[in-house]
Amino acid sequence: MIEVLGLKKMFNEFIAVDNLSFQVNPGEIYGLLGPNGSGKSTTMRMLLGLLKPTEGTAKVMGFDIRDEIVEAKRMMGYVPEEPVLPQRLTGWEYANYVSDIWRIPRGPEREEELDELLTLLDIKDASDDLIETYSKGMSRKTSLVAALIHQPKVLILDEVQAGIDPRGAATVKEILNGLRAKGATILMSTHVLEIAEQLCDRIGIINEGRMVAEGSMADLRLQAKGEKSLEEIFLSLTGGPDMQKIAEYLGDVK
Ligand SMILES: Nc1ncnc2c1ncn2[C@@H]1O[C@H](COP(=O)(O)OP(=O)(O)OP(=O)(O)O)[C@@H](O)[C@H]1O
Ligand SMILES: [Mg+2]
Repeated sequence: MIEVLGLKKMFNEFIAVDNLSFQVNPGEIYGLLGPNGSGKSTTMRMLLGLLKPTEGTAKVMGFDIRDEIVEAKRMMGYVPEEPVLPQRLTGWEYANYVSDIWRIPRGPEREEELDELLTLLDIKDASDDLIETYSKGMSRKTSLVAALIHQPKVLILDEVQAGIDPRGAATVKEILNGLRAKGATILMSTHVLEIAEQLCDRIGIINEGRMVAEGSMADLRLQAKGEKSLEEIFLSLTGGPDMQKIAEYLGDVK
């Protein structure tokens, strides 16, 4: 379970996250949606202890991120927006390195499990190559493998599907569905509204650091009276494209 309790983050005078509260329950996938710069990654980074909240707090499986961050971190697997991977290791070495960090005993059982995960995500064949040779999608898949290794109860996925091919995206979807069925708590962000619609039990739409709408697809439809698709709901709450400015620009294009 994740309980976000009045989280606020200021960068100097700028309020990136503003008194944000929401809860993600076990067995639930919660999608955080919002325009670029609305505070999704900042919120996730606070949950992970990578940024210190200016105000408020959050609890992860009951552990308060202010004073029990080590315990909270143990519960979480995280795929960051921009995976930072050791370029001079192979995928296989990195997976083993992460396994060592989590003190998973070395041996055939661990190797089989890593093998299984890497194969599932179609990166087994590249696992003896250096990470520096990986494509964007391969790096993200490697980052996901690393997040899953210790079988965390809570997953924080910052645009995990970005750059992943359709087969990979379908695999990720099935994995997340399976983990949800086993009671995992999953917080994810995405800009692909179709993914949010298909995968998330509840959606929170944030704009300028504040929650502007929250609920299941059915709830959101009710809140945004008359709007049918998630795209329409999203645009009505966060603002659509400026058609006049676009027309002006296109008129100037020779
Ligand atoms: N370390 C930082 N220092 C100063 N400002 C920051 C820092 N990190 C984030 N911000 C600002 O906080 C705001 C929220 O950023 P954040 O990365 O959380 O947005 P986001 O919702 O994840 O956007 P995106 O969809 O583009 O990933 C932005 O205005 C950003 O410029
Ligand atoms: Mg982000």
